[in-house]
Amino acid sequence: MSDKKKYYITTPIYYPSDKLHIGHTYCTVMADAMARFKRLSGYDVRFLTGTDEHGQKIQTIAQEKGITPQEHVDNIVEGVKKLWETMEISYDDFIRTTEPRHMERVQKIFMEIYEKGDIYKDVYSGLYCKPCESFWTESQLVDGKCPDCGRPVTEAHEEAYFFRLSKYQDKLIDLFENTDFLQPETRRNEMLAFVKQGLDDLCISRSTFDWGIKVPIDEKHVIYVWLDALTNYITALGYPDDRELYDRYWPADVHLVGKEIVRFHTVIWPAILMSLGLPLPKKVLGHGWLLLDGGKMSKSKGNVVDPVKLIDRYGIDALKYFLLREYTFGHDGNYSTEALIKRINSDLANDLGNLVSRTVSMIEKYNGGIVPDAKIEDEFDKDLKAVAIGAADKVETQMDDFAFQNALEEIWVLVRRANKYIDEKMPWVLAKDESQKDNLDTCLHNLAESIRIISILIYPYMHTTSDEIRKQMGLWYSDVAWEDAKEFEMMYQEKVKKGKPLFPRIDIEKELDELAAAEESEDMEEDNIPLELKPEIEYDDFDKIDFRVGEIISAEKHPKADKLLVFQVKMGTETRQIISGVAEHFTPDDMVNKKVIVVANLKARKLRGLESKGMIIFADNGEKLEIVTTDAPDGETVS
Ligand code: MSP
Repeated sequence: MSDKKKYYITTPIYYPSDKLHIGHTYCTVMADAMARFKRLSGYDVRFLTGTDEHGQKIQTIAQEKGITPQEHVDNIVEGVKKLWETMEISYDDFIRTTEPRHMERVQKIFMEIYEKGDIYKDVYSGLYCKPCESFWTESQLVDGKCPDCGRPVTEAHEEAYFFRLSKYQDKLIDLFENTDFLQPETRRNEMLAFVKQGLDDLCISRSTFDWGIKVPIDEKHVIYVWLDALTNYITALGYPDDRELYDRYWPADVHLVGKEIVRFHTVIWPAILMSLGLPLPKKVLGHGWLLLDGGKMSKSKGNVVDPVKLIDRYGIDALKYFLLREYTFGHDGNYSTEALIKRINSDLANDLGNLVSRTVSMIEKYNGGIVPDAKIEDEFDKDLKAVAIGAADKVETQMDDFAFQNALEEIWVLVRRANKYIDEKMPWVLAKDESQKDNLDTCLHNLAESIRIISILIYPYMHTTSDEIRKQMGLWYSDVAWEDAKEFEMMYQEKVKKGKPLFPRIDIEKELDELAAAEESEDMEEDNIPLELKPEIEYDDFDKIDFRVGEIISAEKHPKADKLLVFQVKMGTETRQIISGVAEHFTPDDMVNKKVIVVANLKARKLRGLESKGMIIFADNGEKLEIVTTDAPDGETVS
């Protein structure tokens, strides 16, 4: 087993209710960057993500689709895994709560808590928010609605199992008051106030639906989806029956979660762990939301941004860079594609892309493509060097606070310093003067060293770009090592090779026009949803039907059936009787003199004693019928 220091980081396990959007991607990208950063800094990292697949909401969605909950989650989870693969998310384990390894362990955990006396049976009456699967007390409601999602709650009663959450109130207060377990500070104050209000015991079973893990001692009940979900952080490590990973990685160093689920992670989860007698996670970090037009993205509101579309257009590294650089950890931020394009142009194409391409071109032009040695040291050289070798420590400090934005800004201080250094040294002028050869060599060398350092610093956030830069700088032979970012003199006569531009500049006006056009055609596609039809038929089948125009010359109620009307219908030379089940929609008077369309060659049948030969066509919106009429002469064919 490795003797490296361990680092265990988790994302929330996402609900596979629908395809994931850019908000979920934001959280996973942060966790991935941190995991890669820690690996690079020498830690033995375990990075866990997954999906939270049980609960009423999932069951309802599957029912609406007419498939089983398992079929539904299997479909969505396949897409989730594909998305993380596309984004090169470096998770070590992906847990699905429908996996037997998880379900069996959750039952064992339930029994452990039960045997400790912290679970008891009672009757629950409360206010329930179905979409959030949360019970609330009257005082927690906001304007009488669910405080999380603002939707109405309903009174619900059920026999249920309860967890003695109230027993842990003092310990939780102590946790918030005396540790920095929860960050940021504002979230900690909120939670402290929440716990101080007093905690009720928590209802941890449900019997009104069955898509969940069964309560082992009472199979009419399934375990509350949040108890099921939160335990994933230890069941994925094998707790309680296979403790090798658990012993190595628990407690987690960080649970990264969105601000709306901080309460579950900092009140319920620690109390469960306290009951089990297990150590608590070292930190829970609550991040803010990505908003769209000022509101939270949600599929049901139809305002989501699909990360795959952005990746197709701008690439993975540009998207990751943008998410980490644009938003401040812990705060909400508004998503905008325009802001993304601006970042690509200014930070990536202009600052980083130009630095690399100018440097490689100059080394090719002035030194045959070979990185020269440094020969002298003036004030500009000294300053660049100091900024370059100081950057890694600054990045580390920012990363300790999950301040991705500042960490990237520290790297860009160096990128911009190196660009300024080119302007200060003006290598194209030095190249014209033979006596400045040492100065020119030093300049090219220092630029190459700075870019080498940058390639290491950006690795956790944009590893593909880092690889591409290292290829262009002739550094393909060496692995990226964090400590090398703190050294300056490491390059020795590498052969550089110009590659394609790292980030082509985007014409912002043109791009926004194109996006608007694409959106419009997508909207049109959305407005043109294929109908759900009966199975397709052959033309020959259709051709067998003889439609005719018929005029209803008389209509009356069927003497023996309230729902039926009996019509005499004239079709050219023939008048015949047709009976239709439309008495709930029309009176006989509504129908007389109407010209209708008749399936004229339908075999005759008897309806409550009277013969009916043919069928009149009506339009049906599912609730109400309309007469389909025509002005054409009776007896004519309709085709
Ligand atoms: N299944 C629960 C979590 C259980 S963890 C034991 C859940 N799932 S979720 O899919 O609804 O949301 C999970 C996380 O996705 C949020 O906590 C947050 O990290 C992320 N986000 C979802 N929408 C988001 C935004 N619009 N913006 C930022 N993050 C968002 O809750």
